[in-house]
Amino acid sequence: MSFELRIAGEADAQEIATLVNRAYRPSPQEAGWTHEADLIAGERTTAEQVLSLFHEQSTILLLCLGPKIVACVHVEGVQSGAYIGMLATNPAMQAQGLGKRMLLHAEAYATEHLKASVLNMSVLSSRPELLAFYERRGYVLTGKVEEYPLSAGVGLPIVEGIHVLSLAKTPA
Ligand SMILES: CC(C)(COP(=O)(O)OP(=O)(O)OC[C@H]1O[C@@H](n2cnc3c(N)ncnc32)[C@H](O)[C@@H]1OP(=O)(O)O)[C@@H](O)C(=O)NCCC(=O)NCCS
Repeated sequence: MSFELRIAGEADAQEIATLVNRAYRPSPQEAGWTHEADLIAGERTTAEQVLSLFHEQSTILLLCLGPKIVACVHVEGVQSGAYIGMLATNPAMQAQGLGKRMLLHAEAYATEHLKASVLNMSVLSSRPELLAFYERRGYVLTGKVEEYPLSAGVGLPIVEGIHVLSLAKTPA
């Protein structure tokens, strides 16, 4: 079997939600090298929330191995830029280069298809290893810090003081 990149469709919503929840909020037995399970309780997303991302200027990119989705990322055009989110790799396949490949793919999609002049993303405070991963890829903290979105249906903090940090990168 070989890897294949493709654009997600609505029929993929449940499998994407399952992958994202396994990656972001894994059980201790299957956790990858970085996740939110120690910080946030509850699911990161649902199939319904994933379905809501299928609209104009909003695309989910997939990496598949045979019939299975092994990594995903969401790219959305916002004003003159693009927001990149929901980057996830199957925990069993992390630290093999798939996350970097999907991030590059998302950046290329944002510049080619959305004509983005700036790439934005966000990362939870208390995740220094993930922040370092993005900084090594050229993202910088913008200084914008927001409250955790308690009412967004993306899980609830189980530790004090979690905020959402904004990152930005100017594409080459
Ligand atoms: C973040 C995520 C997508 C990365 O995917 P991945 O497939 O593991 O990423 P890659 O294999 O391409 O890259 C791994 C990087 O992490 C580094 N890394 C691996 N293990 C690490 C560890 N234990 N501690 C710190 N860094 C580590 C590697 O050195 C590499 O970075 P480098 O090439 O700059 O040295 C994946 O961990 C994930 O799905 N996490 C849960 C969901 C999540 O938090 N998404 C991001 C939300 S903003």
